[in-house]
Amino acid sequence: MLRDIQVNGVQFRVADEGLGPVILFVHGFPLNHSMWQAQIEEFSRTHRVIAPDLRGFGGTDGALYSVSMEQFADDLAELLDALAVEGPIIFCGLSMGGYIAWQFAQRHRNRLSKLIVCDTRAAADSPEAAANRLKMADIVLREGPEPVAWAMMPKLFAQCSSDRCPAIIASVRQMVMTSNPVAIAAAHRGMAVRPDVTGWLPTLDLPTLVLCGEHDAISPASEMKSFAELIPDSEFALIAEAGHMAPMEQPQAVNAVLRRFIEA
Ligand code: MLT
Repeated sequence: MLRDIQVNGVQFRVADEGLGPVILFVHGFPLNHSMWQAQIEEFSRTHRVIAPDLRGFGGTDGALYSVSMEQFADDLAELLDALAVEGPIIFCGLSMGGYIAWQFAQRHRNRLSKLIVCDTRAAADSPEAAANRLKMADIVLREGPEPVAWAMMPKLFAQCSSDRCPAIIASVRQMVMTSNPVAIAAAHRGMAVRPDVTGWLPTLDLPTLVLCGEHDAISPASEMKSFAELIPDSEFALIAEAGHMAPMEQPQAVNAVLRRFIEA
């Protein structure tokens, strides 16, 4: 069921399906909740699955000039209140959703039972990468999402290996192309100043699954494995024949790993 919920003057579009312990699925940049369709279908059989469109993306309004990862995390905590979620939840974020997961764990630790980060990074941007994001933010506001699609799409997927690939690629392109340019610019500005959390990871006291597509070109497996080793109670899972969009590219393999971790 898709719901529209008002939180502090922002109308959030949220997929809210199933009953039971809550799993919160947080999408990557510049996408929306529908990237988690395969996980929503699988886990709503046993859990309450909440998959929002983040501020400014998909069907959610409230785009700002810049949105920090901290702001996205606080939005989600307030959204959980508005959805009357009380007990601790499992937070699963992909890429930008992972940057938000770190901030959520720092700021709202008592709301969490487990953390899952997919195809993401712990490090901050290099000065060059941050400067490029600020340039891209201005370009998107002038020209719309096409330049972002052009820059990102070639890096998102492993070599196509099944009949489903063209449809998945088309659906991601569609999500990028229909994203609000103001939200894209705001998230770029927010990601450009996100903190490096590497030094904090040894203090992270939650069971944490770090999941990575073996061909991820944005958050490479070697980098993800290294930061997973810094987290005391962590597990690293490599998904074969997948890139940055592993949960969409290999939904069955990803769902199996998620279920084992969630039910352990
Ligand atoms: C994402 O998938 O969310 C992006 O690749 C994150 C980023 O641009 O760093």
